[in-house]
Amino acid sequence: MNPKAKTVTQNNTGEEVSAEKEARDRQETLKILKSFGRKRENLIPILQKVQARLGYLPREAMMEIATHLGIPEIDVYGVVTFYNQFRLNPPGKHSIRVCLGTACHMKGGYITLDAWKRRLDINQGETTPDREFDLDTVACVGCCTMAPVTVVDNQPEGKVEPTKVDGILLAFELERGAEGQKTVR
Ligand code: FES
Repeated sequence: MNPKAKTVTQNNTGEEVSAEKEARDRQETLKILKSFGRKRENLIPILQKVQARLGYLPREAMMEIATHLGIPEIDVYGVVTFYNQFRLNPPGKHSIRVCLGTACHMKGGYITLDAWKRRLDINQGETTPDREFDLDTVACVGCCTMAPVTVVDNQPEGKVEPTKVDGILLAFELERGAEGQKTVR
């Protein structure tokens, strides 16, 4: 066996994670847990802090949290999946948030969401395998006159119908192509 070969395990989504990364995440989680008491009501603030630090909530972090609070792992998982604010997947380089507030819903927000799902080949709450994009939904972002809205990297884009989804993705592709050319020059 190659002594330099990295040990890998899989995260919540079956993606490979190096042992080093897993150890780093564990250290970060333990550091956060130290600053909280063992009362169950600390669960949500702990989850928020761990997610803010790691970008999402890996399975191992949820297990550490359950042990710290002395509660079943399934209770932690239940809270994480109940609240929209928590992520089970690592964030992508670009975030795509489809607004499903009333105005956007009336103007076809779900059709836009379906278009994003099809084009990226992921469901909401997931990240593409190349970690380029993550997809989720949001409630009204205050730009109802531009409905249906998709927030791309925190920037609201108006009138995002399926054809515009293609346009946004094409722009990212061109940007990536230009970056690739810069590195080969
Ligand atoms: S409902 Fe989508 S921006 Fe208001």
